[in-house]
Amino acid sequence: MSLNQIPTIPANGADIPAFGLGTWELREEVATQMVSEALRLGVRHIDTARRYANEKPVGEGIRASGVPREQVFVTSKVWWEDLEPARFEAAADAALADLDIGHLDLLLIHWPNPAVPLADTLRALAAVKRKGLARHVGVANFPVALLDEAVARCEEPLACNQVEFHPYLDQSGLLAACRRHGVALTAYSPLAIGRIVKEPLVAEIAVARGRTPGQIALRWLVQQDGVAVIPRSSKAERIRENASIFDFALAEEEMARIKALARPDGRFVSPAWHPDWD
Ligand SMILES: NC(=O)c1ccc[n+]([C@@H]2O[C@H](COP(=O)([O-])OP(=O)(O)OC[C@H]3O[C@@H](n4cnc5c(N)ncnc54)[C@H](OP(=O)(O)O)[C@@H]3O)[C@@H](O)[C@H]2O)c1
Repeated sequence: MSLNQIPTIPANGADIPAFGLGTWELREEVATQMVSEALRLGVRHIDTARRYANEKPVGEGIRASGVPREQVFVTSKVWWEDLEPARFEAAADAALADLDIGHLDLLLIHWPNPAVPLADTLRALAAVKRKGLARHVGVANFPVALLDEAVARCEEPLACNQVEFHPYLDQSGLLAACRRHGVALTAYSPLAIGRIVKEPLVAEIAVARGRTPGQIALRWLVQQDGVAVIPRSSKAERIRENASIFDFALAEEEMARIKALARPDGRFVSPAWHPDWD
């Protein structure tokens, strides 16, 4: 199946492909191979970060794919220990040098850091955009109050808040806030780091529809207005499977049943430096 039909999400001037490849933990040759395979399959959105230490092989994969640079949407992120303005701008420069792809499409603050005034980091973020290093800017792991503050203070529009989102984690409040601000919600760990494919309800709906559990879980996310997904896989066949979710729709009743899987312990990414979650 051709994946050319992947829609984009309009987000304060950006058009973010609703499906992208996550690359956390993909290293060296595997990162290069998966990125270039994904692009050859028709995927047009790649997610990396300074912290993943794979920007060089990711950049190689982009070039090896033969897909023209302007057709690919590339995101990177600056780590929370580098949010002081001078460090931030140096990190953005280093991301671009490692990727070696001319410009970033989206640069995110990877996690908030209360030790650095948010206004200072936002000024550095806006400067990176104005210098042409990144076409668009945004945040990640920002709960509602911090997102509201960032939108109010940033001199450039924010295109995205990248946060954990899958059926086990209720993000309805944060999604409403993103929509209010015209910001896309990019769902990370959209497969609940692999757990969701073992969920009996998701498996049951998958059998009924002749799809895979991964496709059902990802379809549930992208069927919500303003949501993009960036699942990771180290297997080309799974990347194809995961991206093939734009030729069917879940019924309202199926959407509601999957939403009811949300549970209080459904957040799986919460390191020591996490903000006060919603
Ligand atoms: N901003 C942040 O703070 C942040 C935090 C976490 C993640 N992220 C981003 O979000 C991306 C995705 O999240 P994630 O990597 O945490 O987890 P994920 O995408 O939810 O799950 C990845 C896991 O699921 C497996 N998998 C993939 N497709 C599958 C399928 N169709 N059926 C069964 N298993 C499947 C993968 O194994 P195989 O490799 O064997 O296929 C891998 O173990 C990351 O790679 C990263 O780019 C951002």
